[in-house]
Amino acid sequence: GAPVEVDISKMESGQLIRVAWRGKPVWILKRTPQVLETLSTLDDQLADPLSNESNQPESSKNPLRSIKPEIFVAIGLCTHLGCSPTFRPEIAPPDLGDNWKGGFFCPCHGSWFDLAGRVYRGVPAPTNLDIPPYRYVTDELIIIG
Ligand code: FES
Repeated sequence: GAPVEVDISKMESGQLIRVAWRGKPVWILKRTPQVLETLSTLDDQLADPLSNESNQPESSKNPLRSIKPEIFVAIGLCTHLGCSPTFRPEIAPPDLGDNWKGGFFCPCHGSWFDLAGRVYRGVPAPTNLDIPPYRYVTDELIIIG
């Protein structure tokens, strides 16, 4: 499949956009400064906070799983059996309640991921969400693939 260009110049803080690449959904999320702060506080609830087991390019193998901190790019397919998780900035899993910092929920078998696509402990998904290869052509233009 051909690489896909994504113009992020109009994205607002907190916004998620979806594109298709090689027949797969790819998400681009503009994380808020508040989200970036909370991501570093979740490690003890996550299965693989440092992304040692997951699929990502070297440029995204860092705690925020991205090239630039605020822009998160991921393949929007659950690493369990491939359903597409839903964006849940607010609705929390029952056992996290007020501790919920936003993330993604897979409705098929109940896996939860944070806003860096890192999987919570004790759910069916075995690894963090995959990150596709991507790069910045300019500050406001990303090429995926
Ligand atoms: Fe997502 Fe099973 S496919 S939890």
